[in-house]
Amino acid sequence: MQAAMAIEDGMVVGLGSGSTAALAVEALAARIAQGLRVVGIPTSEATAALARRLGVPLTSFAEHSHVDITIDGADQVERRSLTLIKGRGGALLREKIVASASDRMIVVVDETKLVARLGGATPLPVEIVAFGSQTVIARLKALGCAPTLRLKGDEIFFTDGGNLIADCAMAEIPDPAALEARLAAVTGVIETGLFIGLATEILIGRPAGVELLQR
Ligand code: A5P
Repeated sequence: MQAAMAIEDGMVVGLGSGSTAALAVEALAARIAQGLRVVGIPTSEATAALARRLGVPLTSFAEHSHVDITIDGADQVERRSLTLIKGRGGALLREKIVASASDRMIVVVDETKLVARLGGATPLPVEIVAFGSQTVIARLKALGCAPTLRLKGDEIFFTDGGNLIADCAMAEIPDPAALEARLAAVTGVIETGLFIGLATEILIGRPAGVELLQR
């Protein structure tokens, strides 16, 4: 995978979550097997397990406060601004912490995820605390979205941090920063899946080749 070629010797690498990010971890592991020396900070327990299995050395923010490059996927990318919706896999909080600490965030998507405006068919995942979740969800509804508590089968879905996800369906999002501010002001909201000003490069896989969007 092209994104993994951006990684250089000695780097601290943010390891994203989801099926696309898993391909990047595999590509990185292949380069490590050929002698590349890097350490990775995983954005989920699933990614940590994959990295361990493939022999990618892991580190944490206790040892490295800054990340050189993060490679991750996304659920939607707004072409004009490179703003993202992330979190369908439930790892948005750790993904956002790692992306925020990164010099570069390379996002790999296929063209179906590229949109003129975020929202619409893709709900926005919002991570909320379990305590009082009913009241938090009611407040999200009052802000104009249609939240659904995420389930895994018949059970409530818990994130790696032990929190819940409300998937907030809404019409198109004309002003992601304004929405982010309104959601963040709700007590009990931990983080939203809006990634504003974090992605530095988007690699769009097309049958004819890879398109690069850059900030
Ligand atoms: C994980 O929480 C998500 O943010 C994923 O990065 C996102 O859902 C993209 O996943 P896929 O690469 O599996 O589509």
